[in-house]
Order: sequence, then C-alpha cells, then structure tokens
Amino acid sequence: MNIGPMRELGGVFDRVADAYEAGRPGYPDEMFRAVCELTGVDLDGATTIDVGAGTGILTRALRARGSQVVAVDPAAAMLSRLRARSDGGPPPVAAVQGDGNALPVADGVADLVMYGQSWHWLDPAASVAEARRVLRPQGAIVGCWNLHHAAQAAWLAAYEARLAAEVPAYWGPAVEEWAVPPIAAAFEVIAERWLPWTRLVGIEDFLLDLRSHSYMAALPPGTADAVVERRRAELRAEFPEGVLSVPMRVYLAVGR
Ligand SMILES: C[S@@+](CC[C@H](N)C(=O)[O-])C[C@H]1O[C@@H](n2cnc3c(N)ncnc32)[C@H](O)[C@@H]1O
Repeated sequence: MNIGPMRELGGVFDRVADAYEAGRPGYPDEMFRAVCELTGVDLDGATTIDVGAGTGILTRALRARGSQVVAVDPAAAMLSRLRARSDGGPPPVAAVQGDGNALPVADGVADLVMYGQSWHWLDPAASVAEARRVLRPQGAIVGCWNLHHAAQAAWLAAYEARLAAEVPAYWGPAVEEWAVPPIAAAFEVIAERWLPWTRLVGIEDFLLDLRSHSYMAALPPGTADAVVERRRAELRAEFPEGVLSVPMRVYLAVGR
C-alpha cells in the first residue's frame, strides 16, 4: 500500500499518541448497553469495524465484550499503541492502516461500523457510503463522542473558557457555535442518546488528556507546555488533593 497519504491523514494524532493513550478516558458501560439495545446487535460475536480506532480505547472495550474487531486508522503511531496493547487477548483483532473513506474491508461482512470520536475527521458522504457497503443488511452505523459536560460544573466551564481564550484552534463547549458533529444528518437515524457519567481522574492524567487534543497538537510545543502549565497551577490550587470529578456525557448516534 502507498502510505504517503496515510501519513498525512495520521499526522495530527501521531504527534500526541502517547498522551492520547495515557490520558483519554474509556467509554462507560451504559454506552455499550445502549448500542446493543438500539441496534439490536449483540456485541458478543459481532463483527465490528472500528473506524478511526486510534490507540484502541474503543477497540479494547469491544473485544472485552466479545466483538471481532477490525480496527482501521491512518495514524501509524496511534495504531502501534493499539497493536502493543491488543496482543494476546481474545478474540482476535485486525489492525489496519487505512482510510475510513475507503475502508480496506470486503462488502457485506460487518454487523457494526463504529466511529469513536472519529467521524468528524472523515468525509461525511464517502464515510457513510463505505459503512453501508461493508455492512450486512441488518447492520448498523454508530457514532459516539465522549465529551466534557461543562455546564454541570463551574470549574470545568471556567477551564474550557480559558482554553478557548488561549488556544486559537480550540473547539469545544466554550465556543458558542460548538455542536456535536452532524453525523445524524448523514444517515437514516435510528436513535440519538446523551449518556451522562462521571470521570474520577488525577490532575496529571487530565492534563495528558488535554495534550492529546488536536487543537493542542497544532500549537508550537513551547506554547502547548505553557498552556498546560497554567492549567496545572489553576487545578492544583483549586483541587489540592489532586483528584478531579469530571462531569462527562457521551453523545451516541445510531443509524443505518
Ligand atoms: C480522536 S481519535 C479517536 C480514537 C479512538 N476511536 C477513541 O475512541 O479514542 C480520532 C482518530 O481518527 C483518525 N482518523 C483521522 N482521519 C481518519 C480517516 N480518514 N479514516 C480513519 N480514521 C481517521 C485519527 O488518526 C485518530 O486516531
């Protein structure tokens, strides 16, 4: 395969792969229950294409629930973390460097095509056409995003507002026009859900999560370090015990 274009596609996240692997949260159990209930697909034994699989946060959760997962991502450094942590665990997983707009998967083989915080990086029409091509007739498309629920805590809203003021490419709840990616407009919607949960996390892991965002990866390294240092000082002053209770919510969209 000519991986030149893949390297370009993978560029942003490859720069922050270690922070991504260490800092990003997993998805709550409730999300997987909702996926089964809304799609009618039992994850145990299902063939699932995890598009934009990254370091494998969603891949591992699907494997733990019995899915046969094909993980696809253009970012070599992200996939290398996924491969390193997937070894030895049942059931088998294939991890393929590829583009979600041209899936390296045969027609009609999948029960689910899932995008874990990745669909917004893809072409809205080509990605969904590809998902439909690889799905079995009863298969379903699932998009999910694990998001800060800033309106639920004043400290979190203030934290997001400071990022919005300091980071030019910031995109999140502190921006007035911010909205979830319009995946529900791209396919025939079965259901949309908002699933609240709480993340208990140490300040240093929370700051690694911050570093793993594409808007931080776009900053010159020294500037990113300074932004993180300011957030560290503020969070340590406000939470001297070093642990944060972060209101989160998953946006889940399921369709055909
Ligand atoms: C925010 S990460 C999500 C990783 C993982 N799914 C998760 O739930 O944490 C977005 C991923 O989408 C990938 N991506 C970007 N463009 C893509 C494309 N055209 N096809 C497939 N994946 C893509 C990036 O390389 C990155 O690993």
